[in-house]
Formats: sequence, structure tokens, C-alpha cells
Amino acid sequence: MVMNSNEIRNMFLSFFKRKNHVFIKESSLISKSSDLLFTNSGMNQFKDLFLLENNKLNFTRVVNSQKCIRVGGKHDDLNNIGYTLRHNTLFEMLGNFSFGDYFKEESINFSWELLTNKNWFNLDKNKIFITVYYSDEESENIWKKIGISKNKIIKIKDINKNNKYISNNFWQMSNIGPCGPCTEIFYDLGDNFKGKFTNKSNIGDRYIEIWNLVFIQFNKDINGNLIKLNMNSVDTGMGLERVSSIIQNVNSNYKIDIFINLVEIVKNKLNLLYNKKNIKYIKIIADHVRTSIFILYNKIIPSNEKHGYVLRKIIRRACCCINMLGINYPILYTIINNFIEYMKLFYYDFFLSNYEIGNIEKIILNEEEKFINLINYGLLILKKNIDNNIIIKNNKKLLDGNFVFKLYDTYGLPIDIIINFCKKYNINIDKLIFNELMSIQKINNF
Ligand code: ALA
Repeated sequence: MVMNSNEIRNMFLSFFKRKNHVFIKESSLISKSSDLLFTNSGMNQFKDLFLLENNKLNFTRVVNSQKCIRVGGKHDDLNNIGYTLRHNTLFEMLGNFSFGDYFKEESINFSWELLTNKNWFNLDKNKIFITVYYSDEESENIWKKIGISKNKIIKIKDINKNNKYISNNFWQMSNIGPCGPCTEIFYDLGDNFKGKFTNKSNIGDRYIEIWNLVFIQFNKDINGNLIKLNMNSVDTGMGLERVSSIIQNVNSNYKIDIFINLVEIVKNKLNLLYNKKNIKYIKIIADHVRTSIFILYNKIIPSNEKHGYVLRKIIRRACCCINMLGINYPILYTIINNFIEYMKLFYYDFFLSNYEIGNIEKIILNEEEKFINLINYGLLILKKNIDNNIIIKNNKKLLDGNFVFKLYDTYGLPIDIIINFCKKYNINIDKLIFNELMSIQKINNF
């Protein structure tokens, strides 16, 4: 029998409880750190424990399972959603932690045992690939001792010489705080999937990162200096949805038990075929509505700042997909109830009364209506001014990038909707100028 995601989560927790870890409940999705809006990793609630001079806690080994959101902030996956099989705006991170207790050797051996032992996850050893921080020979040697061949271990450098410790294999929660080199465990989904395992960033779906083991040794201060900590600690994170996709043999987060019915609900309520054209939008809608429900459950409402702004951004991205699917009336709010009913199966403390569900529906409906008005107005401006903003380049009609930026920035018209509209008239948009203006805006907002 294939394990469901609840069983997989429980197996992870049981494994580490057997290794003398204490289970600590997850923290709120709304971060208490001033430098983060949402909890972005299992270690957030333990941030200060890594910095202790001497660990005087009753426990030095912890295990947990933490819902995380990675939109905005240092780790931002928003634009990957819909385009990969393995990204979600909200995911659950399974983690084991050592506060001045075990370090690299034990941590790596624990992960190997859980992943490959036939009494535990029983994954195929031959499909496991590893990355290590380029100077971390100790981890590299531990992996070799376990039996991973040299050609399956890649060393990852800093992004460039001037940016020491800025690397995919040097993990930090935000710009300050506990940090350290990490070793990442990847699983090869096979040659039906595109992708290469290289020391460049991993593009494609073939090699999927399932677990990150971070060896916390430093505290990064506000000036970017790394201060060596007195004790060595471990912070790990495994994506429940990803590991479920492997164990359940479906190879996509959107096909695991947690998501499969959400995708079905979207498909059925919107009366869509699950074809190549629609699939991206269906995935985005399923992902974003689920995340929005969790944020609303935490009493955040859409607004123009902080958490509320992120929530609005996520809802609007889902609304934009609805529009791209040719639907221009509110419809997302009609799937909320079914989503919540299904989501309850996977989160034991997730409960909403009918009154609260009604409120969530109202908020989503209100956002949808606002978005539709915004689109209609933006398109009106576009239609009125399109003729005056066409430029001809290489015999092709282009919509002036300055105007496109104005539509996006001032009128809030999503770029996909602008492109879609222009396509009908055989007009492309001047991406060069638009992208330039976008990067200037990003720098100014930094
Ligand atoms: N904190 C580490 C991560 O999020 C484990 O990848």
C-alpha cells in the first residue's frame, strides 16, 4: 500500500522521535520576526536557540512539521508556480534540529537511513544525488563513506568571488541571523523529465531537491559579517509535498493526495479540460486559492501593505489566470467551501466554522470584483491609447514599453493580460524597455 501524505509526515516524525528528538508543534504562518512576513522555514521559531552561548535547554534535539510560505522576501517562489512540478507558494517542511548536539556525521546518516532503509521511506539509493558547499569537504567525505559515488556529488560555489557565502549551498533564513553551509539531497525522476544535474542552478524537473541539511555555524550580523557561533547545530528541511510525490510515484506535487482533488475541484467548477493550454492556470489557481485560505485562516485580510499585500497579490494572480482562461466574472469564491472540506483531511488542527467559511468567500468575492473592475478599466485605457503607442521595429508592430509599464504600474493591468490582448491584433510588446523599467523599479524599492 502506498503511504498517504499524513502517513509520510508521521513516519518522518516517528523516525526522529526514535532518535530521541522532541516533537514541537509548528509556529504560526505569520512570522514573529521583524525581517519576515511569513514563516519561511521550520527553523524560524528556533532562530534564537541556535545563537545561545551554551545550550541550557531541556532538549537539544527537536523534530517538527511546519507550514511555510515563500512569497516575497528572501525566498520567493511565486513566479515558479505553474511552471514547475515541484513549487508551491505554501508547503510543509519536515525538519529535524540539533542545538549543539549532533552535527554533520549523524545528520547525514539519519537522512540516509530514513530515505533509503526498507523499513522507512525505502527510496532507490541509486537515484540519490548530492550537492555540498564547495569548501565543505567533511560533508562530501561523509557522503562518500555512505557510498555515494564522486560523480553524484556536486560542489556548489558562491555566486561570485565578491559575494562570499552567497550560494545555493549556504543557507540563511533572511539577511541576518543563524546560517551555515548546507548539503542538499536530490532525487532523479528519470529521463522522462528534462533537466541536468549541474553546479549551475538546477533547471528542469528531472532532479528534484527533497531535503536540505544546514550546518549552522555562524550568525550573520546587520553589516553582513559572519560571527562564528560557540556551538555547532543542525537545521534541516524536507518538502512533504515533494517527498510524497516520489513515494506516491506521481512525480508532481499537483498529483499527490494533498493536491489532486483541489486540482479536480478547479477543473470541474471552471468546466475546464486538463489540457496543455489550461494546465498551468489550473495549477496556479489550485495552489493560490489553497494558500489564500491558509492566510485568511490566520486572520490576515487583503490590503496594500505587508501580509495583506502578499495575500492580495496571490489572489490577483489567481484572478489573472481566470481571466486568461476567458472567464470574466467572479468564480473563485465558489470553490472555497469544497477546498476547505478537502484540506481538512491533511491538517489535523485546521478548522473553520460555517460563518468563517462564509467570510472567506465574501473576501475572495470582493477581491475578484475589484480585480475585474481594474482589468476592465486598464483595458479601456489600453484600447483608447493603443494606436498612439505602436512603434515599428524590424517591420513588426510593438507596443511601447513605457506605455506597457504604465498600464502595469499605474493601472495594475497584469502583463499577461496586456500580452494576451495585443496578440489578437498581432502586436508584440516591447519587452526590452518594459523589463528595464521593471528592474529600475525593483532597485528603487529595495
Ligand atoms: N532551513 C533550511 C531550508 O529552509 C533547512 O532549506
